[in-house]
Amino acid sequence: MEESRLQLEYIEKVKKINEGRDLKYCSVVFGCQMNEKDSEKLCGILEKMGYERTGLEEEADLIIYNTCTVRENADKRLFGRLGVAKQYKEEKPDMLICICGCMMQEEHVVKKIRSSYRYVDLIFGTFNIYKFAELLYTRIEAKEQITDIWDSHREIVEDLPAVRKYPFKSGVNIMYGCDNFCSYCIVPYVRGRERSRRYSDIIDEVKYLVSDGVVEVMLLGQNVNSYGKGLSDNISFAELLKKVADIDGLKRVRFMTSHPKDLSDDLIYVIRDNEKIARHLHLPLQSGSDRLLRLMNRKYTKEGYLELASKIRREIPDIAITTDIITGFPTENEDDVKDTIDVIEKVGYDGAFTFEYSKRTGTAAASMEGQLSKEEMQEHFDRVLKKVQEVSKAQAKRFEGYVMETLIEGVNEKDPSMYTGRISRNNVVHFKKDGHRIGEFVQVRLDECAGFYYNGTVQGG
Ligand code: 5AD
Ligand code: SF4
Repeated sequence: MEESRLQLEYIEKVKKINEGRDLKYCSVVFGCQMNEKDSEKLCGILEKMGYERTGLEEEADLIIYNTCTVRENADKRLFGRLGVAKQYKEEKPDMLICICGCMMQEEHVVKKIRSSYRYVDLIFGTFNIYKFAELLYTRIEAKEQITDIWDSHREIVEDLPAVRKYPFKSGVNIMYGCDNFCSYCIVPYVRGRERSRRYSDIIDEVKYLVSDGVVEVMLLGQNVNSYGKGLSDNISFAELLKKVADIDGLKRVRFMTSHPKDLSDDLIYVIRDNEKIARHLHLPLQSGSDRLLRLMNRKYTKEGYLELASKIRREIPDIAITTDIITGFPTENEDDVKDTIDVIEKVGYDGAFTFEYSKRTGTAAASMEGQLSKEEMQEHFDRVLKKVQEVSKAQAKRFEGYVMETLIEGVNEKDPSMYTGRISRNNVVHFKKDGHRIGEFVQVRLDECAGFYYNGTVQGG
């Protein structure tokens, strides 16, 4: 724990420099739950340094952008935000602008920021997030732009501060990186090789979270099913999940994401036999076409995926299965779209994210022949989206009238007399506020389904 001690010293140093000043920070996160979790760590470090949180960039003395690069639109959004931040900085020259995350692992992006966005103060990547305190201190002392990008992972540093977005639920990293190299995906390049956290560190973190008021955790990894590879612990994801679910005081466990190629029967049985494990499995399909699955390097077939989905539904009938689908992958034709639509109908997804294929420099698919035109891409996307919406709406409707255990997550944004909660199957439910508090579980009847969410009524009191 040498490294964490060193970082705590840097936190103290910056805190000293900040003493007596009323400083605010604003954290902006793009992308997935991994980034959300990383930003909680960054926020924890900033708060220990004496910065106070604000949701407004214009009010901040320090802004930290955590970036995503999985699809192209995420890039565009960041550069728009940076332009606006520049204006704030012109009025407040001491303001610090920091950027980190996946996009910074791409050389051309860093080059662009260093040449055209000179007002950015600190640039770092995904592998050295834990060095944030040291880097910030270096920037403050050096008074010039600092860039520190590593090209691979060095160590997993535990025991740094973090602040949670929600007091009652939390993500917990169980592994980092990805070794699958799906041909369209940039994640293995920007997040590096797969490595698992030690079993005892995960269990200790969950126990700590429970003692601090957390009732629901989400175990996070790009491919949780391959958890444990390279560890001396010799423990599978199914075993880890069971051990986490066994922790006293914890009420619900989720996890994300499962790759269909290595989802074990044991995992299915562990979910089936543990009520605390959410009735929800996110199982990215990407495409229903064997030809495209091969080109995507997904290592399963349409047939294999369908068998897996029906085994899951047979063993756990009330489980929600959701998915990710990419349309417009190079060479995608009419037959491929039909295959994808066929899988959507046969699995009967409870929800799906549909993405237009986005070419990422450096991936295998970027140099494939047969890139689709904008029109073809749009046409395939629209058809798949329509089918997904139709199927998942019908699935949600099946549960109207059921009473479900619901975690109250917050006050409804549009109507302060209502609460918003989440059922085990991961759908959102809106219901009238009563004596219960945020972070509590209540029984709610799902009166009416409105697409992916329900309007409901609290039962018994
Ligand atoms: N284009 C479109 N979608 C992509 N995804 C990953 N890479 C790309 C890409 N280049 C999608 C996949 C993955 C989800 C997180 O993002 O569907 O499951
Ligand atoms: Fe990307 Fe495939 Fe790894 Fe998921 S499993 S992060 S899609 S390479």
